[in-house]
Amino acid sequence: MGKRIAHIMSCTALLALLATTVHAGPATITRAAWGKMSDGRAISLYTLTNTHGMQVKITTYGGTITSIVVPDNKGQMGDVVLGYNDSADYIKAVNNTYFGALIGRYGNRIAKGIFTLDGKTYHLYINNTPNSLHGGHYGFDKKLWSATPFHRRGTVGLTVRYMSKDGEENYPGTLHEKVVYTLTNDNSLQLQYTATTDKDTVLNLTSHAYFNLAGAGNGNILDHFMMINADRYTPITKNLIPTGELATLSGTPLDFRKATPIGARIDKDNVQLKNAGGYDHNFVLNQQGQGVRLGARVSCPRSGRVMEVWTDQPGLQFYSGNFLNGTNIGKGGKVYNKHYGFCLEAQHYPDSPNEPKFPTTELKPGQVYHQTTIYKFSVQK
Ligand code: BGC
Repeated sequence: MGKRIAHIMSCTALLALLATTVHAGPATITRAAWGKMSDGRAISLYTLTNTHGMQVKITTYGGTITSIVVPDNKGQMGDVVLGYNDSADYIKAVNNTYFGALIGRYGNRIAKGIFTLDGKTYHLYINNTPNSLHGGHYGFDKKLWSATPFHRRGTVGLTVRYMSKDGEENYPGTLHEKVVYTLTNDNSLQLQYTATTDKDTVLNLTSHAYFNLAGAGNGNILDHFMMINADRYTPITKNLIPTGELATLSGTPLDFRKATPIGARIDKDNVQLKNAGGYDHNFVLNQQGQGVRLGARVSCPRSGRVMEVWTDQPGLQFYSGNFLNGTNIGKGGKVYNKHYGFCLEAQHYPDSPNEPKFPTTELKPGQVYHQTTIYKFSVQK
């Protein structure tokens, strides 16, 4: 009798599990039409699914990640990135959030939109007074990228490409950039960037996905535990421009070497937190120049979801969604209020072209820019 009850119970548990988890199957990639650019060019949306049912959607508008669906610790699937319903919403997006987009030519700010290269001064578009942010007026996030899907050794991926003409947004050099998104079967999304130029230029590419591991729109991220593998950071002025210093994190409310809830110290009376209205800082990652290493680990107590960021970049911009203010109505009509998402943007330090002591962001003809960044998902109890 006991055995029968145990058998019935295990069947019930199995059925419950099957109801909430996506069936394993071969990795797939599909394409759908997804509206048009204002000049009529067609936009596509690709859906990548791995063997565990993890699903990533990427659109050719901005090479943007619009959705990442991963299981929680009960096997329940949920979308953990902020985004809009359709391409029209991305195109008309107010409040410049850059949800999920590829950022270029220069991720983050260039002070007053000015830099000098080879003795020539360049003036960029000031779209974030008094600075130029994320590539200027029409950065890579607003461009149509070409896309080629691929299957490789049981995984699927999407290669996106964009050619930026000499002088676009006032940056020198014709730039060819390529980002290879690979969805692996260990629930990782890998981004491999390469770029070349035909004239000396500056370049700082990144991905601007906002994550909420409880599910996009399901409250704020202040309860998420954050660990960042950095002993130092680049302090900023009121205009969010680095002072040039590499300061220790020791004894500051920005020290995330031990996993700490994002909200635990965010309101502390600290000039750096006041300058940014929360966290919006570049962390100088440890183990510089040693290839891909762990940059950050985030866990959400509500869902048990865990995300790690692995990267070969020198910096990681941790942005706690301070400027989200409810004007952004997202997927499924969900409203994104302050701190409803966080970004971990692997990149070079902000304003590097004006800070000779920072690792260089210059790219010359004959050189190839490389970046590898991986977002790896798992669960914990
Ligand atoms: C920056 C924030 C900015 C946001 C724009 C982040 O990368 O660090 O300061 O407001 O992008 O959405």
